[in-house]
Amino acid sequence: MNELVLNLSKLGTPLYFYEKEKIVSNAEKLKSYFKNLNIFYAVKANFNVEILKIFKEQGLGFEVVSKGELILALKTGINPQNIIFNGNGKTYEEVKFAIENGIEIFNFDSLDQLILLEEVAKLMNKNIKALARIKTLVDVETHPHLQTSIFTSKFGLSDEEIDEVLDNIKLLKKVKIVGIHSHIGSNIKDEEPFIKSAYRVLKISKAFDNIEILNFGGGFAVNMNFKELPKLYNELSNKFKVFIEPGRYLIADTGFILAKVVSIKRGYPHDFLVLDCGMSELIRPALYGAYHPIKSIKGQTPERFYIIVGPICESSDIFGEYLLPNMNLNDLVIIENCGAYGYTMSSNYNGREKPLEVLIYNGNYEIINDRKFI
Ligand SMILES: Cc1ncc(COP(=O)(O)O)c(C=O)c1O
Repeated sequence: MNELVLNLSKLGTPLYFYEKEKIVSNAEKLKSYFKNLNIFYAVKANFNVEILKIFKEQGLGFEVVSKGELILALKTGINPQNIIFNGNGKTYEEVKFAIENGIEIFNFDSLDQLILLEEVAKLMNKNIKALARIKTLVDVETHPHLQTSIFTSKFGLSDEEIDEVLDNIKLLKKVKIVGIHSHIGSNIKDEEPFIKSAYRVLKISKAFDNIEILNFGGGFAVNMNFKELPKLYNELSNKFKVFIEPGRYLIADTGFILAKVVSIKRGYPHDFLVLDCGMSELIRPALYGAYHPIKSIKGQTPERFYIIVGPICESSDIFGEYLLPNMNLNDLVIIENCGAYGYTMSSNYNGREKPLEVLIYNGNYEIINDRKFI
């Protein structure tokens, strides 16, 4: 890896690189657990079109939440019927664009969003399918910002809202509610909340006629240890079409950032190691305290602690405390687990360029996205 990394560094830092073999093996592993399921890769995790093409080749569909994500997904040449359109605030224009482009399945989690689907479908004289996203009220052990299905979540229909939807169902002419959708959060390491949630989805599904799809969303942590869940989902797939929408699990550990030390200054209790990469390239540590292993390419003989920070004008631009060899200016480091919600959440804040993205396979590399300024 080191020789390749040194070659990559000639392209300038910071840059993202992804390992194609790992992307393929993650997809294959997930398919082997969930044999009869429809897997929709959550495009928000990483929307580079070359990466999307790998998932398409693996036979996965796509889950999108905006017109922009839909355009990227369609660029792979995927059949639009293998795309589902989610989101709690779709606009008229987005729904119209999606229907024009052959999308047939939409979720909704409010009565007005359901009515919007009906209005647009009617105007375009197209029949579409809808999945009701519900709150499963399952608390998960993750960062509060990554909880999505508790009572106070902005996502999902509450019990009262489900009743409202049921009361209005007869008004629907072009939209058919064919499924129940849940997504309980992200970076969840334990199967239990998924299992509890599945039973709640099943229970709610009984209140509707015509339910043929159960969509359990995404949320698996990279190191998720599957035991009982595949059995439950595979069993349910004898009666329903079962969907999952993983993002992080498929892509997080395939991506890295190569960065350079640009300053070393005195700090307390440890010196600061300032990288040429910060929250504009990887916001997860600042946004929800995410920990990303950071390694020196000089090797891992631990010599001293550093507080690793970025160059951005924000005090929250901190990766954390790390034990590293003695570091010098211009030394290279690799930040791990950056494949999901890394580049897609990056910004031009502080007038910075968006980093380069590179795909590695068979010991070679290909630039899959140029640096971009504004
Ligand atoms: C509705 C929905 N599905 C799937 C995902 C993917 O989640 P993860 O990357 O944790 O698997 C998300 C993430 O926010 C989501 O909101």
